[in-house]
Amino acid sequence: MLKYGFYNDYSEGAHPRILELLQQTNGNQEIGYGDDRLSARATELIRQALGQPDADIHYVTGGTQANLIVLASILRSHESVIAAQTGHIHVHEAGAIEAVGHRINIAPSVDGKLSPEGVIEVLDQHTDEHMVKPRAVFISNATELGTVYTKLELENLHELCRSRNLVLYMDGARLGAALCSPASDVKLSDLCELVDVFYIGGTKNGALLGEAIVINHHDLRSDFRYHIKQRGAMLAKGRLIAAQFVALFTDNLFFDLAQHADAMAAKLQHGMASLDLRFFSNSTTNLIFPILPNQVLHKMLSMYGFYEYARIDASHTAVRIVTSWATPEARVDEFLADLSRT
Ligand SMILES: Cc1ncc(COP(=O)(O)O)c(C=O)c1O
Repeated sequence: MLKYGFYNDYSEGAHPRILELLQQTNGNQEIGYGDDRLSARATELIRQALGQPDADIHYVTGGTQANLIVLASILRSHESVIAAQTGHIHVHEAGAIEAVGHRINIAPSVDGKLSPEGVIEVLDQHTDEHMVKPRAVFISNATELGTVYTKLELENLHELCRSRNLVLYMDGARLGAALCSPASDVKLSDLCELVDVFYIGGTKNGALLGEAIVINHHDLRSDFRYHIKQRGAMLAKGRLIAAQFVALFTDNLFFDLAQHADAMAAKLQHGMASLDLRFFSNSTTNLIFPILPNQVLHKMLSMYGFYEYARIDASHTAVRIVTSWATPEARVDEFLADLSRT
């Protein structure tokens, strides 16, 4: 028997309501490549949620694909993108951005978050045509460390980007978890004003797969479908992703699932804090990073699955615990009970 795992928020399949809709619509004939009725419906529902009747929305299968297509569509050959040291495009995407010819400039960050000062530091080092020209800023919300951006932080970043002719792009692989975080004062609809492009992550919030890219900045919209097609990402059966977003944006499912994942992580974090554990980051979403004494780590690893994240010192390790839309509360309670006995 496999150990129960807190590895990822994509360890389970899909929420039953998504599967039901796929099943219900399975026999219908549809036009291909995103011109189907489910894509139209998903776009209508997301536009309603955004409060933007003409929002430009495109569906792709995964986060790396979204990041690559968006950034490759924005950057000219000499242009670069600024990201945090922990930014997903920098650490976990096999050089996808570099492979299409763009440097990633690393800016100082705290808890996975970029600040205007960090961005300015990079800009100040790139002054002329002997260097790459930063043209985009990549942020993730939630970040790779489970933290979230406040509205003011996003406003400040956006203001800087506007004044320095930079495109602000938000990777929303865990956008649901970010928006449902108690530390967030950002609403989904705010993102139309706060960033130039973002995506709404489905894969890590109850879908089988799929991300919905939203392009706010009108100048970035033209020919985007060509970019999708050229990267091999335009699905003949576009209905597959669209149906999932229809289900996610019906009756609040998207937010209910994210809320559950966050609540399970918060319960774990609270329980761990009461056992006097410290944390590697100030996460308020569904990824938490407790620091365990190595003896405890090894005992817990013999009972549960989760990843080690960073060595803190000779006797302590930060681990990554991830909850999902499907994490049963009983598993959380068991984990805490086992931890307190260890
Ligand atoms: C913040 C973030 N962006 C992008 C991705 C990449 O997603 P995918 O594995 O679907 O390409 C991930 C995956 O873990 C992620 O955490």
